[in-house]
Amino acid sequence: MRLSGRTAVVTGAGRGIGLAIAEAYVREGANVVIVDRDLEVANDAAERLGERAFAVRADISVNEDVETIVRETIGRFGTVDILVNNAGVGATTLFLESSREEFERVVRINLTGTFLVAQAFARIMAAKGYGRIINIASLSGQKGGVGRSAYGASKAGVELLTKVMAVELAESGINVNNIAPGPILTEVSKVMHTVETRDAYHRLVPQRRYGEPSEIADAAVFLASDDAAYITGHTLNVDGGFLAAGLMFPFDPKASKRLGQISE
Ligand SMILES: NC(=O)c1ccc[n+]([C@@H]2O[C@H](COP(=O)([O-])OP(=O)(O)OC[C@H]3O[C@@H](n4cnc5c(N)ncnc54)[C@H](O)[C@@H]3O)[C@@H](O)[C@H]2O)c1
Repeated sequence: MRLSGRTAVVTGAGRGIGLAIAEAYVREGANVVIVDRDLEVANDAAERLGERAFAVRADISVNEDVETIVRETIGRFGTVDILVNNAGVGATTLFLESSREEFERVVRINLTGTFLVAQAFARIMAAKGYGRIINIASLSGQKGGVGRSAYGASKAGVELLTKVMAVELAESGINVNNIAPGPILTEVSKVMHTVETRDAYHRLVPQRRYGEPSEIADAAVFLASDDAAYITGHTLNVDGGFLAAGLMFPFDPKASKRLGQISE
């Protein structure tokens, strides 16, 4: 029960990674506000998680909706301790084929939405001198993956926003960190990832597999807990080694030839 008595808001918690985080937080003793723009999945999730969970329909990129999240959270639980900015949308479009509309839509949700919700709750946390904010970034914000111009730029923005928030909010007792997932098996990755994408990940990720949503939730519990009190402005990659990986090949020192030994 590492989060006993805490109140957490998790955006995009109707399914996928956000739902796994909400489940883990309830298991660890927290009250959880499940925010999603899809009311049906939010209600289903809250019902499944029991009386310490509460659903709010809201689009994180709309100012009035953000006000609704704050009002409903305070109305129901009276305070907030933890915010997880998880809601986001994916996009895979080649750079030359990307439209301004799609680029702005992805940035508006992933980056501007994160900014809006974080600012609204950070004001409340600053007034009480305690808070934990966890932003869900992505490996696509750290590496130049094919088709990830809008998505990658939005997630790189989230990482930098996190650092500025961590610096400015440190004296108010608020820790701000990122979790950057590698490929995670969720409904969206099952639909969006082609066979080629999956094969590329299996080749490039040292652990040769997708992660599970629960593995992101484990990191989110840690960063929200007292064990992470001195961690702020950090990006915790949960990626099976994807970022660390350089050349990967089966190396046999006896059988391998040097370039100079190859005649031709
Ligand atoms: N799945 C992966 O491989 C992966 C990898 C790296 C990062 N991420 C990030 O993790 C987060 C969750 O991803 P997921 O795979 O669980 O996605 P998902 O699509 O399965 O779930 C996202 C949830 O967010 C909600 N949502 C989307 N836009 C919203 C908005 N504007 N306002 C409120 N709710 C909104 C959706 O309705 C959905 O319930 C995203 O930020 C994503 O970019 C995912």
